[in-house]
Amino acid sequence: ERANMTLTFDRYKDRLQMLSKGKGWITGNLYMYQGFWHQSMRRISIETVMALQETFKAHPKDIYLVTLPKSGTTWLKALMFAIVNRNRYKNNSLSTHPLLISNPHDCLPFIETEIYRNTPTYVHENEPRLFATHIPYNSLPQSILESGCRLIYLCRNPKDVLVSMFHFANKLRDKSGGTMMAFEEAFESFSKGVMPLGPYWDHVKGYHEVSLEDPRKVLFVTYEDMKMDTVNHVKRLAKFVGYPFTEKEEVEGVVQEIIRLCSFENLSEVNKHGNLRDGIPNNVFFRKGEVGDWANHLTDEMSQNLDRITKEKFHGLDISF
Ligand code: A3P
Repeated sequence: ERANMTLTFDRYKDRLQMLSKGKGWITGNLYMYQGFWHQSMRRISIETVMALQETFKAHPKDIYLVTLPKSGTTWLKALMFAIVNRNRYKNNSLSTHPLLISNPHDCLPFIETEIYRNTPTYVHENEPRLFATHIPYNSLPQSILESGCRLIYLCRNPKDVLVSMFHFANKLRDKSGGTMMAFEEAFESFSKGVMPLGPYWDHVKGYHEVSLEDPRKVLFVTYEDMKMDTVNHVKRLAKFVGYPFTEKEEVEGVVQEIIRLCSFENLSEVNKHGNLRDGIPNNVFFRKGEVGDWANHLTDEMSQNLDRITKEKFHGLDISF
């Protein structure tokens, strides 16, 4: 795996030199590629995007969960994994459900990391492959667009994404012995669009547009709506990917069971200790899991500034949080 990774990274060295650079949130630089800022030399990086664009082969039945970092990726991964595999683990004792023993990121991989491996974990023959990605719409590997795959895009209020990313970056900086980032610096970078996979607004808009043009291809949901009415959204997600709940399942409370399994309380408890397969601590993906924590971090002025940018960028679009 490591050898593959080094090969890939070396291959794109020259192309990287040509790109504009920005300051990274966690380590190193960000690189501007096809309109978005990407990290380098991390598990989800510009080199893997380039490699995927050249080599990735989608299957028509694949399902892709797309997010900007810190928009609720971990929650969506857990829910979709639990929905699609609900009959596989039904008759076992509950304790054997993968989500009770491993991180959702180890149950449902990013295509960005799978490129180094041969087969993703928990993929079963004749069933759709479940993948996640942070890649912006206009940079997706062509074969995903051409194969008729379904995509779910999860979007979150920009102010909560900023706060969540700020804490996440500092936890990882701390782990590698780096200095902490000040909130003002995070705010400035975010407002300029400089964050991994940013600008935030362009990422959201790219997928929002396609969800309107082709609602069978892209389902657009928000973290806030999911929190407010989890039951109906879980049903909606299941239906969209072709795994609708039967009446019998609804009566038996299967939807509620999945929601409980994937709740912040449960997952943060399961992931209190240990690391992901690629070394990141399991617990960095769980902080508060609430809507509106931005109010504890942003000054009124900061909040108004971001509201103004969001209003301008999302002008005429039906996106609300
Ligand atoms: P906060 O930092 O605001 O708490 P991602 O999964 O895209 O990295 O996003 C991480 C954010 O989702 C964090 O937000 C995290 O606490 C929250 N989160 C993680 N698991 C969750 C769950 N099961 N339900 C709701 N939110 C969750």
